[in-house]
Amino acid sequence: MNPKRLYLHTIGCQMNVYDSEQIAMQLAAVGYEQTASMDGADLIIVNTCTVRAKAEQKAFSLLGRLAKMKRHKKRLIIGVAGCVAQQEGQRIMERMPAVDLVFGTQAIDRLPHLIQQIEARRCRIVDVDMVVTPDIPESLVGSQDQSHVSKFVTIMRGCDNYCAYCVVPFVRGRETSRKPESIISEIKALVDNGVKEVTLLGQNVNSYGKNQDLCSFPELLAMINEIEGLSRIRFTTSHPKDLGPDLILAFRNIAKLCSHIHLPVQSGSNRVLKRMNRNYTREQYLDKVAELRDTCPQIAITSDIIVGFPGEGETDFEQTLQLVKTVQFDGLFAFQYSDRPPAPAVKLPEKISEAIISNRLQAVLAFQDKLTRSKNQQLVGSTQWVLTDGLSKKQAAGNPAGSNQELQWTGRTSTNKIVNFYVDESTADNQNLIGKLVGVHIDKGYSHSLSGRAINLEPSWRGLKGVENYAA
Ligand code: 5AD
Ligand code: SF4
Repeated sequence: MNPKRLYLHTIGCQMNVYDSEQIAMQLAAVGYEQTASMDGADLIIVNTCTVRAKAEQKAFSLLGRLAKMKRHKKRLIIGVAGCVAQQEGQRIMERMPAVDLVFGTQAIDRLPHLIQQIEARRCRIVDVDMVVTPDIPESLVGSQDQSHVSKFVTIMRGCDNYCAYCVVPFVRGRETSRKPESIISEIKALVDNGVKEVTLLGQNVNSYGKNQDLCSFPELLAMINEIEGLSRIRFTTSHPKDLGPDLILAFRNIAKLCSHIHLPVQSGSNRVLKRMNRNYTREQYLDKVAELRDTCPQIAITSDIIVGFPGEGETDFEQTLQLVKTVQFDGLFAFQYSDRPPAPAVKLPEKISEAIISNRLQAVLAFQDKLTRSKNQQLVGSTQWVLTDGLSKKQAAGNPAGSNQELQWTGRTSTNKIVNFYVDESTADNQNLIGKLVGVHIDKGYSHSLSGRAINLEPSWRGLKGVENYAA
């Protein structure tokens, strides 16, 4: 019998990327094979995000297209997963008659059963049950992991912070951490499948283990650091209020921990930070940045800001811009504030007009774009260790810009910058560089990437002792 085909569309954060992999593996157990073609699918699942209005609109517009497709393909099963599913539940069924299944962020392990019921009875199901502190189900590790160098690993779910603008605590539930043993055994299984780098995921990894009598996050990092065959560790996201000295020291002491932290500041105005319920001041944020750079001078710091939070005055925005200029982030995501009910900021008066938000957004992005490019250009002439994850896009598209003899590869530095680099085929000895750490001499810096030439192939790909584990 031909396998049934699953098309999975993921919108949103890394947490959703991880959940989508779990969805695919759960469905593999009941005969579904993943396909890249929407037209050929028997089951289409849209894994949705509700953190900002745009992401939610994207999900509904895709569902609209799928509904049209289903008119000509009556047996097609359409499922909605993720945060919009969790939040809207039954309302999606009413709004979208073509949808067969709506399942929430805690229902993924029940998926095989739900799909089998729909296949057998063509019924419509909503499963958005949430328990206060769920036991996080064991993750699945699939054989399809083999082609990946870098994988996400969820170490905790939910969030207890209730930032005033944010819907996450309402759709992802209370903060719950996975047991260290379970995380370690998942990472070991990934490493056995060829994975070299893991990114540990949580809404606020600094509070890992809180109230659960587990180890601390820095202790967890130290344990993961011992896993043989793993080259690099990353994590996201950190809340500035909980970034303590132990975690800052980890950037110096834990050899495999990459020199990059994503530390969302959201605003540079103390008045706005207070209204956002962020529980730190701009001064405290700047102190943490200084401490991080003191401990690990090469560290790259990236951040998120929200522009146009209700009541954000011109002076407040100026303070955000000043903070961005002072910190000199390596990268910045700037978002236009949107109301996300039931987040409490929805009820705040003094909404800021689209025109003002758009001007402020342009101002901050224009500054950051220039800065990111100039920071990348400052790296010209240096040598960076790059963990290779494949051939560059250009190469994969069959359009190498160098001579015919050269292959262009791509990977990331420890500081999370993308590097495209050439390797002379003669030197490369036709070796597959995927998963190898390569020393690259940087010769150009752009807005979103660096480019260069591999100069240090021998120790890294021949596995000289110590070099394989070189994260920095
Ligand atoms: N409006 C705009 N941006 C938001 N974010 C979260 N909620 C909102 C909202 N209501 C942004 C924050 C967060 C990132 C993941 O999304 O900057 O760090
Ligand atoms: Fe949302 Fe704040 Fe939790 Fe991040 S820490 S998920 S912004 S409530």
